[in-house]
Amino acid sequence: MVVCSCNRLTHVDVETAVAGGATHPREVYAARGCRAQCGNCVQGVVCLLREARKKHQLAHEAAARQAMPVESDIALSA
Ligand code: FES
Repeated sequence: MVVCSCNRLTHVDVETAVAGGATHPREVYAARGCRAQCGNCVQGVVCLLREARKKHQLAHEAAARQAMPVESDIALSA
């Protein structure tokens, strides 16, 4: 889905920028080598940025949980 028609920025671009560490709309635009022009998309980019950050955070937490040994693994190795 295109979220910024001036720069042809898509929701995937926002998610990719967040995965690359973007935390602010200007960092999302910069990740694509552009910046807001007319500004009509900024609120949409902010919403997608928040959503993508939550999703990224949840995925990170899930990966951390999987990396942690469960109690039964600890008992077996002792
Ligand atoms: S629609 Fe994004 S800057 Fe114009």
